[in-house]
Amino acid sequence: MTILVTGGTGYIGSHTVVQLLEAGHHVLVLDNLCNSKAQVIDRISQITGNPPQFIEGDVRNRKLLKQLFADHAIETVIHFAGLKAVGESVQKPLMYYENNVSGSVVLLEEMAAAQVKSIVFSSSATVYGEPQFLPYTESHPLKPINVYGHSKLMVEQVLQDLALSDPAWRVALLRYFNPVGAHHSGLIGEDPAGIPNNLMPFVAQVAVGKRAQLSVYGNDYDTKDGTGVRDYIHVDDLASGHLAALEYLKKNAGVLKVNLGTGQGTSVFELIHAFEKAANQKIPYEVVARREGDLSEYYADAKYSKMVLGWQAQYDIDRMCVDTWRWQSQNPNGFND
Ligand code: NAD
Ligand code: UFG
Repeated sequence: MTILVTGGTGYIGSHTVVQLLEAGHHVLVLDNLCNSKAQVIDRISQITGNPPQFIEGDVRNRKLLKQLFADHAIETVIHFAGLKAVGESVQKPLMYYENNVSGSVVLLEEMAAAQVKSIVFSSSATVYGEPQFLPYTESHPLKPINVYGHSKLMVEQVLQDLALSDPAWRVALLRYFNPVGAHHSGLIGEDPAGIPNNLMPFVAQVAVGKRAQLSVYGNDYDTKDGTGVRDYIHVDDLASGHLAALEYLKKNAGVLKVNLGTGQGTSVFELIHAFEKAANQKIPYEVVARREGDLSEYYADAKYSKMVLGWQAQYDIDRMCVDTWRWQSQNPNGFND
């Protein structure tokens, strides 16, 4: 099958492209490289022996999209392209709505014009907001608490309205929990620009000596050890969830909304300890004040994904740390190495 992957040089996109190529698909990657590097394509080729076709460009570029759909027999789109920094989204809401929402609308218009009506969309657990109950099931109320989350929920709404207007659409809304880890080859992984916002890449950079110590944002939450609890999921498990969603869309029209998580909550302290084991060294940390906007605890109800996709996560937190450490220690400067 010919698949257009937007954002395919990014963290989750690159791991998914590897699995798509390994499954024999023809893959076109469209990415404007605003948060990733072109070297990713060489690394994907090293892993698979089979380079994807790479087009450097923007999903908001209508002319480019028209050309892509005219030149290739694209059957489905996996849409990763978007901006994802929560804090930045609050500072620059128009930039986020323009890229994430308007960008998706342009893409969908051009898909419709080309009669390509199958899409897998990167949504997020952040659409649920403050937990009313845990684990979050797919029917949990939707109430995002920041601009990034609203932008994801808006695109979910656009896709649902589109599918209502035309029953030919096949849509999978995948609500990711916290992706971490890296491909077992150590050739691709998460390479954040600047100071990492997220826990796992920060811990990995402390371990490799790029940062002096970790700040733990609060140890007075009402959780098992006082630190924040999340559902970390190995990026390769997340990637295989996309292949399962493609199989589902072959057989089913309409809209699928599904969590991609493990169902397990891990605290900040538990993650630090798992990483210390993986890297065989102590991670220096200091407990500081809570980070504004953080929820104390959430994790997925993973039953529906298993039922509807026949998919479940395979890797535990130890393996996520081992694979992150392999990537970070082999590439202390990310794709610049
Ligand atoms: P990432 O930043 O590594 O990848 C996104 C890619 O999209 C980047 O390579 C970037 O250059 C590209 N891009 C951004 N805007 C573009 C545009 N207008 N045109 C073309 N390319 C563009 O992020 P990721 O972690 O791989 O996330 C992928 C998707 O999953 C995003 O939509 C993100 O919001 C979503 N998501 C991520 C997480 C997470 O914690 N990583 C959680 C839930 C959902
Ligand atoms: N944390 C620290 N120190 C750090 C970074 C994080 O203690 O330096 C803690 C946070 O307080 C939280 C946990 O580690 O308790 C996880 O934080 P992350 O930043 O790794 O992940 P978040 O759950 O805050 O954010 C993730 C995605 C967002 C998404 C959000 C909600 O990165 O894109 O989940 O789904 F919006």
